[in-house]
Amino acid sequence: MKDLNKKVAVVTGAGSGIGRALAKALAARGCRLALSDLNEAGLKQTAELCNAIDVKTYLLDVSDRDAIYAHAETIVKDFGNVNLVINNAGVALSASVREMTDDDFKWVMDIDFWGVAHGTRAFLPHLIASGDGHVVNISSVFGLIGVPKQSAYNAAKFAVRGFTEALRQEMKLENQPVAVSCVHPGGIRTNIANAARMGKSENTEAQRKSFDKLAVTTPEKAAKVIVKGILKNQSRILVGPDAWGIEVINRVLGSAYQPLVERFSRKNLYT
Ligand SMILES: NC(=O)c1ccc[n+]([C@@H]2O[C@H](COP(=O)([O-])OP(=O)(O)OC[C@H]3O[C@@H](n4cnc5c(N)ncnc54)[C@H](O)[C@@H]3O)[C@@H](O)[C@H]2O)c1
Repeated sequence: MKDLNKKVAVVTGAGSGIGRALAKALAARGCRLALSDLNEAGLKQTAELCNAIDVKTYLLDVSDRDAIYAHAETIVKDFGNVNLVINNAGVALSASVREMTDDDFKWVMDIDFWGVAHGTRAFLPHLIASGDGHVVNISSVFGLIGVPKQSAYNAAKFAVRGFTEALRQEMKLENQPVAVSCVHPGGIRTNIANAARMGKSENTEAQRKSFDKLAVTTPEKAAKVIVKGILKNQSRILVGPDAWGIEVINRVLGSAYQPLVERFSRKNLYT
């Protein structure tokens, strides 16, 4: 996809953060927008900020498989076709493997992994039919390295990466007209930490403060990098200097990155 003008773009989790910034950036490039979220008020605000001639909003819970498939049919009916699907909606959980509840673990997997997997599979036939499609799945730097107290989020985001990288190769091998990108943001200044669930012995305030300190990239900058990556058809889109640092450490050290993360976590997460 060399040009986004008049392309139909679907963005989940568009009511806040990276999703909202992506919606604005895509509107500025002339996209026709199908924006969805659980949060009706946030979604409405995003639509107002977009200034797009053709923007429609949809209430959608990405953890509901049947709702996603129905959503894909609705979008094709409303817009005629679909070119770009950005599976962005996500949540976070901070809890150790020992302490996290099954309910919280499932909550993260249902949204962060299954939401992306169903979002991809529901739209794939329509993206192929468009003749010029692109799937963009939002993973994380936590889809590149394991981090203490992030095992559920790690599991979901590593799964998104594996699923997405496999799909990219399949589309090429099958000569399908669908590009595929996996996005790995570092810390982005959004509402994600405020909306996160925490294990019962976690210091919620301290963790939110630490996130604010570490989240060095704005959502607008993130959206700019992601849109550029889409136009360049990048397989892996890294967002922020921290994401690049983690990518380099991962490549150089392999699994020996772990003592470094342990040292950082001892100071910041186990105090
Ligand atoms: N902010 C970061 O530092 C960071 C880093 C790496 C990856 N990410 C990923 O980026 C994506 C966007 O997160 P963000 O930082 O903009 O967070 P955010 O909390 O600002 O926005 C997430 C949006 O997803 C929506 N959402 C949550 N559950 C949903 C559901 N079940 N169905 C539909 N919508 C739902 C929320 O209502 C919200 O509007 C997520 O996948 C997140 O994991 C964020």
